Amino acid sequence: MTQKSVLLIITGSIAAYKSLELIRRLRERGFLVRAVLSKSGAQFVTPLAIAALTENTVYNDLWSLKDETEMGHIRLSREADVVVVVPASADIIAKMANGLADDLASATLLANNKPLLIVPAMNSMMWNNKATQRNIAQLKADDAQIIEPASGMLACGEVGQGRMAEIDVIVEKIFSVLGTRQLLLSCKTAIVTAGATVEAIDPVRFLSNHSSGKQGYAIAQALADAGAKVTLISGQTALLAPENVKLIKVKTALEMLEAVENTLPADIGVFTAAVSDFRPQEIAKNKIKKKTGEAAPVIQLVENPDILKTVSNHKKRPKLVIGFAAETENLEKNASDKRKKKNCDWILANDVSGGKVFEGDSTEILFLTEQKNENWGKISKKQVAQKLVENIAINLTEKKGKK
Ligand code: CTP
Repeated sequence: MTQKSVLLIITGSIAAYKSLELIRRLRERGFLVRAVLSKSGAQFVTPLAIAALTENTVYNDLWSLKDETEMGHIRLSREADVVVVVPASADIIAKMANGLADDLASATLLANNKPLLIVPAMNSMMWNNKATQRNIAQLKADDAQIIEPASGMLACGEVGQGRMAEIDVIVEKIFSVLGTRQLLLSCKTAIVTAGATVEAIDPVRFLSNHSSGKQGYAIAQALADAGAKVTLISGQTALLAPENVKLIKVKTALEMLEAVENTLPADIGVFTAAVSDFRPQEIAKNKIKKKTGEAAPVIQLVENPDILKTVSNHKKRPKLVIGFAAETENLEKNASDKRKKKNCDWILANDVSGGKVFEGDSTEILFLTEQKNENWGKISKKQVAQKLVENIAINLTEKKGKK
């Protein structure tokens, strides 16, 4: 395995001293570590201590010609596999949430294109302040992963939530972000459906829906990044094909079902497609004309097959069958009933009332299995994909262990 590189952004909180221990632990595990130290971070730890432990230059000045020619704010994230803001002060959290970039730490974060972990540490009043909570919610929606601070006695003498997460937890999370992407699902096969199906009425008109396909494409990408062999069966979307994924484009629900059945068997099936429940019984050969004075034409509909349900009850059923539920009311009850009715293992339910979710990059998820019911809250579609892949990996490992 090639050496993985972690970029730490150390900002101004008393917990900055713990970042030294984190560097030591990451180095012991063979990571290459680079660090950016903010001006306020440097009030708590010295560049010398960080340089000695990382065995690398410490970066702290946006305007240093030397740093910009050798390793500027763009290259810092390009050459890392994961970026960790540790400790993350209320100030850097506010800057990130608003896209500010007036020093090296914030400019590097704005230019970042790698998975981002944020490890907040601050006084509990600052943590609980509505502004900080707003900023954290925004960052989650923007795809950052937050390692929540713990509760307990704080450095300022007050008791409450704000203490930086334990180093073990941070190291584990870094492993999970990097490991998941590479190893967890190697040798597994997956089918993902995505996008909207299109059902022709006549040569120019059709029945379809607002699905963008973003969630399914993100899941296909995350599964492939975790090493799975993925076939993505996609209806209409405006998205580019994910990397390392076999893409089969279809139009109608019938074509989608056929492509899915032809791709079985698979270990994992994730059904995110917004399939038209009905299709016109007949497709008019010619464009339907309006005739003045006559009643509007009636389009007779017939029901489409339910792809998720068919696969859940298939003789080649994948070990894990996962569906989505788009609901506009009674989210939990309807989604739970849907899971049972369709005989799938898990349902990810989201509230689509008022057209929210379809086009956007974030969503709100309720994760339902036979055993549990987890609220994932407001979360980006990429993070849903990441979390789902982690759950799939754990589940398949447990099942293997039971045999
Ligand atoms: N689904 C499917 N084939 C269909 C309809 C739905 O595979 N013909 C799958 C979707 O991909 C999703 C799940 O079933 O994973 C639930 O879809 P949803 O639109 O929420 O539910 P419906 O079954 O269409 O039920 P309703 O419209 O009554 O809510």
